[in-house]
Amino acid sequence: FLTLDDLDPRGKRVLLRADLNLPVRDGQITDRTRIERLVPTILELAEKGGRVVVCSHFDRPKGKRVPEMSLRPMAAALAQALGRPVGFAEDCIGEAAEAAVAKLADGEVLLLENTRFHAGEEKNDPALAAGLAKLADAYVNDAFSAAHRAHASTEGVAHLVPAYAGRLMQAELEALDAALGNPARPVVAIVGGAKVSTKLDLLGNLSKRVDVLVIGGAMANTFLAAQGHGMGRSLQEAEMHDTARRILEEAQGAGCDILLPSDLVVAAEFKPNPATQTVPVDGVPAEMMALDVGPDTAAAVEARLRQASTLVWNGPFGAFETPPFDAATVAVAATVGALTTAGGLKSIGGGGDTVAALRHAGVAERMTYVSTAGGAFLEWLEGKTLPGVAALQSAAQSKTG
Ligand code: 3PG
Repeated sequence: FLTLDDLDPRGKRVLLRADLNLPVRDGQITDRTRIERLVPTILELAEKGGRVVVCSHFDRPKGKRVPEMSLRPMAAALAQALGRPVGFAEDCIGEAAEAAVAKLADGEVLLLENTRFHAGEEKNDPALAAGLAKLADAYVNDAFSAAHRAHASTEGVAHLVPAYAGRLMQAELEALDAALGNPARPVVAIVGGAKVSTKLDLLGNLSKRVDVLVIGGAMANTFLAAQGHGMGRSLQEAEMHDTARRILEEAQGAGCDILLPSDLVVAAEFKPNPATQTVPVDGVPAEMMALDVGPDTAAAVEARLRQASTLVWNGPFGAFETPPFDAATVAVAATVGALTTAGGLKSIGGGGDTVAALRHAGVAERMTYVSTAGGAFLEWLEGKTLPGVAALQSAAQSKTG
């Protein structure tokens, strides 16, 4: 794909697909990471004299104009992060958008209203893509976290105007390639989360690509139960036992070492700071449930990490939002932070809860790379082609070929 190194934006209208789908509670943005990570691309385009037209989806308005899902408040947040004014257009296509874009001077920034106010966005309707293309001399996609959606603003429009990857998109793709594309070995993957059933493709793909696959979270309970351990009242998926055994066999066939917990922290109730016990995996009392992996397991994972060159981390070990069931996640994260800082480990984390868990553990800043993506990171771990990335690649091919 082409990058900003290949684009001279001076005097050009540059349509920038951002992901401004930020977490908002009671009208307040609770985490500005996605905006902060977008700043370098916007500043680079603006400082080089581009007329920057930012578009994004926000939430899931399903093709309706839902006032609470307007991107208008994001214009102020963006302006604050950029340290320069950001205009706003009431629609992402049509007269309002065209008039606002026409007024832009070189180096100015405009934000368009939520692309998902049009049903054509999620349908990848060529009419919406054409409406967006009409506003632009060049298209820059910096929304890796929305690249798993084949929508008009992430995919369709990339075929209609010269298309480039922004700096955030580029950084995400380079980090992911360093993790699984062409990694320094040995590679360890840590996968946690509640359900085996939602991570089947991910486990299947990773077991073919990594040297050690560490399984934590409630999904480890399903694997342990499938091996014949009594799991008491632990969360697990009884209907996935055959699948879990098959995953273990296939991983073995592929030369991937699967590391399951050897000890667990159990409690009678899932609530903050209950009475807990640490037990071996064959000693879970019938009336108790596993809520974290134990210290022996954390130590075994840390030992593997000391031998490793690359780590991909998706999903916490335990119910980390409820103390003390964050202990294993925090302990392993501290080791990851130390090994990364010392220069021996390339550590990449992302997807859903993972970033919150790494922040909670205080190591997000020390990781080599933390992705801004949730669902897109997971689909990428599954080995899927992301339509937003594929469109940039085919745009680059048609330009060079
Ligand atoms: C995300 O927040 O993961 C992306 O912005 C995609 O959002 P979506 O799941 O609503 O498509």
